[in-house]
Amino acid sequence: MALACSPAPAQEMAGPELAPYVVTGDAIIEPLAGQRGDAALGRALIGERHRSLCILCHAVPEGAAPLQGTLAPSLAGIGSRLDEGQIRLRIVDMKRLNPESLMPTYHAPPDGARIAPAWQGKPVLGAAEIEHLVAYLVTLKE
Ligand code: HEC
Repeated sequence: MALACSPAPAQEMAGPELAPYVVTGDAIIEPLAGQRGDAALGRALIGERHRSLCILCHAVPEGAAPLQGTLAPSLAGIGSRLDEGQIRLRIVDMKRLNPESLMPTYHAPPDGARIAPAWQGKPVLGAAEIEHLVAYLVTLKE
């Protein structure tokens, strides 16, 4: 099986901007940039293994993607276990809850030491993408 690997467009290389957010307890209650996401786009993004990385570690239900990981808890039923704001904080910055977590910090300035200059201070996923993921995960009820 051949894997296609095309370079990201220039705009994507520049990286998304960081949206400000407020953490309340173990949640971010307000949507990033004040905008709700689209669950269908979130489901598709989870399936994009090389961009979102989620399924390297997590299983997702509904066969959204083949070859899912087992390093992390399955995301099946996550919408019953956590509320929207809790899911949002976990995607934005899991290390805030567990500094030892394997999970990447998706929307906080990454620590600059080990990343290319173009990415310094840039989140891995933009606000809209985070919201698409949140919109999808809240629909995963047990
Ligand atoms: C490198 C592995 C890895 C990747 C990639 C990853 N996660 Fe995680 N994730 C974890 C681990 C491990 C946990 C368990 C919590 C901890 O580490 O403290 C977790 C926990 C979670 C939780 C909370 C689960 C629960 O039952 O409480 C959510 C939600 C979540 N991840 C969503 C995502 C999403 C969405 C993506 C992709 C954008 C993603 N994760 C990418 C490793 C990963």
